[in-house]
Amino acid sequence: MGPRYQAVKGTRDVFPPESERFAQAETIAREVFSSHGYGEVRTPCLEPTELFARSVGETTDIVHKEMYTFADRKGRSLTLRPENTAGVVRAVVEAGLATGPMPLRLWYEGPQFRYERPQAGRYREFRQIGVELFGVASASGEAEVLRMLFAFLHALGFRSLSVSLNSVGTSQSRAAFGEALRGHLEPKASAFSEDDRRKIEQNPLRLFDSKDPAVRAALEGSPRTLDFLDDASRRHHEEVRRLLGEAGIPFKDDPSLVRGLDYYTRTVFEVVSADLGAQDAVLGGGRYDNLVEALGGPSLPAIGFAIGEDRLLEAAPFSAAARAFVLVIPQDAEHLDDALRLAAEIRQSVPDASVEVDLLARGFKKGMARANALFEAAPVQRLDPGRMFAVLLGAQERQQGTVTAKKLDTAEQTMVRRNEIGHWLATRLAEARA
Ligand code: HAM
Repeated sequence: MGPRYQAVKGTRDVFPPESERFAQAETIAREVFSSHGYGEVRTPCLEPTELFARSVGETTDIVHKEMYTFADRKGRSLTLRPENTAGVVRAVVEAGLATGPMPLRLWYEGPQFRYERPQAGRYREFRQIGVELFGVASASGEAEVLRMLFAFLHALGFRSLSVSLNSVGTSQSRAAFGEALRGHLEPKASAFSEDDRRKIEQNPLRLFDSKDPAVRAALEGSPRTLDFLDDASRRHHEEVRRLLGEAGIPFKDDPSLVRGLDYYTRTVFEVVSADLGAQDAVLGGGRYDNLVEALGGPSLPAIGFAIGEDRLLEAAPFSAAARAFVLVIPQDAEHLDDALRLAAEIRQSVPDASVEVDLLARGFKKGMARANALFEAAPVQRLDPGRMFAVLLGAQERQQGTVTAKKLDTAEQTMVRRNEIGHWLATRLAEARA
């Protein structure tokens, strides 16, 4: 019989050491983004359903079939956010920041919810690290955001990633493109599903999100967004390409990239990692110059991206740094208080080590068995096998004012004066690291 309760399909539990990789990626994000002047914004997971319909778009897959939407006890329709750009824009307008000093630079991290078919790298609850830059209409917005993105990806150890780049133009040029696309697809639509035929009518760009081979085949040789750009959007796109080249950011033009959300104007981009089995994107973003106004704020240009944290970590070459480890083992329950005190003292001296007490006070023999089991599991637990110690504390030690330190990889044993153990461990751990 399986466990009585199981995680909801498409959600998952993350334990150490995987949770430490999440924390480390988030720490690096915080460091890189704050060094570029971005501050963290935290917005609710729950938003009014209407917000996503108005921003992401009524006819997108996300809004049409992937949202967790429910009525609350007063009958208000609420949705667990499927993405966070809409929520951040809502928050910025609500707080009056959209009419404040510009540029406004924000980043966020947190869970998002989409009712998708779960598979590797695709979950119903997943986390995103995202960035939104408000108030910059020129291509220097793209340049800043993409430079910062690459600084972050490099800090995680990625080297050979490339941006797929396109421009979807303004709402007018998009409408002209949509019309041409409809003309191209309608004669081939008999092979499409009902849902995809509906998209031809309502929002032909959304056909690019389809995985149906019939649709993919029909899209070959279809009109391209770039052929419908107005002059200003074309110049903007050229400027983005020039600035990315100057920044040394590798990119490829992808004329079929339109992104699965309706709020984009002009620049859209994605990064796909070859390290991930499926060709799912690790991150995506773009410019959304009309969204702030559409959600009741002033006319304010903006650009941003969101990284799928789960996918990022599945592909990321970095691993959390292995830690030093000390297990303080009391001889019996009588020495437990003293062991707790000693552990606190040791933590002061070796703040980057993981210092544990054998709280079960099961004696030296079983305590050492536990220490050795942790030593065996060091790679999985992300502990540094060369920097692991057990510290034994019993009647004899207490009487002599000493403790017994054991280095777990060599089983070498040393008597150390109790009031010197912190310093002794700090020195030994530093030597072992060098
Ligand atoms: P998005 O492309 O819908 O864009 O999502 C961004 C990233 O979230 C994807 O590239 C992917 O890595 C991750 N992601 C999406 N769905 C799932 C899933 N079911 N499981 C795991 N990861 C997933 C946005 O969300 C926009 N808000 C990005 C943006 C910000 N545009 C401008 N500013």
